[in-house]
Amino acid sequence: MNGMLSGSGNLDERLERILFDQARIRECIAEMGSRITEDYAGGSLTIVAVLQGGVLFLADLIREIRLPLRMDSISVASYHGGTSSSGTVTFHQNRLPDVEGRDVLVLDDILDSGRTLAAIIGRIREDCRPRSVRSAVLLSKKVNRAVPIEADYTGFEIGDEFVVGYGLDYQGEYRNLPVIGVLRKEWIIPEA
Ligand code: IMP
Ligand code: MG
Repeated sequence: MNGMLSGSGNLDERLERILFDQARIRECIAEMGSRITEDYAGGSLTIVAVLQGGVLFLADLIREIRLPLRMDSISVASYHGGTSSSGTVTFHQNRLPDVEGRDVLVLDDILDSGRTLAAIIGRIREDCRPRSVRSAVLLSKKVNRAVPIEADYTGFEIGDEFVVGYGLDYQGEYRNLPVIGVLRKEWIIPEA
């Protein structure tokens, strides 16, 4: 491996700016977890994570919730490689979470145009007969949403910029960065 990847840059070195470091993210998720613990006491919680981006958030958040809960996932795509939303939400699977009569909390990494969260919540409400459906996002972009929706639990609000790390990807990569930040321009391929 010696020198094999020289020139490609360490992952962290590809960030122009860090918005939230590990400690800040951990603190925010702990706080959200205790609110959820209070709000859902006595309920029947199923956390449904949006793949792939919601996975790190799921893993950290459920360990901050002191209630019995189930977890499931749903796979959709609304980004197709670039840094802006494509406008369509595609469900990658036919199987929906088995949540009849349960309190569903949908988790996603980020709320941007609102299309993803709205499509998932709509689909679960229509097809899964849940008792309740709410949502939690780690990040919320302050933008004019294509679909008017806000999450019930929001970690951090950010401006209208493209971020990576902690589950968030650019062209499938950077999800494993333990921090959330903005990519240096040279690592973004200009869109045609
Ligand atoms: P929405 O449907 O436009 O609200 O976008 C939600 C989805 O777009 C998220 O699940 C992310 O996968 C993706 N997304 C939105 N903004 C960003 C970003 O800044 N970085 C990486 N992915 C993003
Ligand atoms: Mg995503």
